[in-house]
Amino acid sequence: MEEKIVMMPRIGDPAPEFKATTTQGPIHFPKDYEGSWVILFSHPADFTPVCTSEFMTFATMEAQFAKANCKLVGLSVDGLFSHIAWLRTIKEKIQYKGMKDVEVKFPLIEDITMEVAKKYGMMQPGESATKAVRAVFFIDPKGIVRAIVYYPLSLGRNFDEIYRALIAMQTADAFQCATPADWRPGDEVIVPPAGSCGVAKERMQAKDPNVTCHDWFFCTKKLDKETVLKTVLKK
Ligand code: BEZ
Repeated sequence: MEEKIVMMPRIGDPAPEFKATTTQGPIHFPKDYEGSWVILFSHPADFTPVCTSEFMTFATMEAQFAKANCKLVGLSVDGLFSHIAWLRTIKEKIQYKGMKDVEVKFPLIEDITMEVAKKYGMMQPGESATKAVRAVFFIDPKGIVRAIVYYPLSLGRNFDEIYRALIAMQTADAFQCATPADWRPGDEVIVPPAGSCGVAKERMQAKDPNVTCHDWFFCTKKLDKETVLKTVLKK
């Protein structure tokens, strides 16, 4: 039988829709998440060490993501009972890097048919034909894919970076700016590039003490940490 070719979503695309069974009940994605950012992420398999370290880390950061109006949704191609058993084991038995008694409260999708994983390009046969790679989709409150990260099976993700990327995108949206390499709240942001010779000239002559132009195409602006956090974090 010929295999159906599915285009994986790209940055700027609407997040593909699906209905799924999860450890927190049924979900209709992304409809159920309208108005929130969502991080939809896949992991290769339940009861595996790298994934266990990731779930414990992500679960302990769930409240931090919630403050930034972001919900977490996990997925692997295991079944619901495997998910439940694994999450129970994590809570009851696993102590790792000072984390213990960790309850994973966010939904974990069962995807035995790989329908969702294939829709999102999480199956990458060069890496594994039977396990999803470590994909992370950042989806905004309007259901648009805003960033995508892929890691191979052997490499655990850096959840501080995932949080940093989320806050950086929210800051770029709120303040109409871009964020430079390694940006963190409190660092200068990048003002949109000059779109005409006139603006380029003005930029270089401007005397705004909050703006520094390294050259006409590369201007940064002060944006204090408090203003950023007050804007992107819930009270
Ligand atoms: C892990 O999570 O430890 C893992 C899963 C699949 C392949 C390799 C490692």
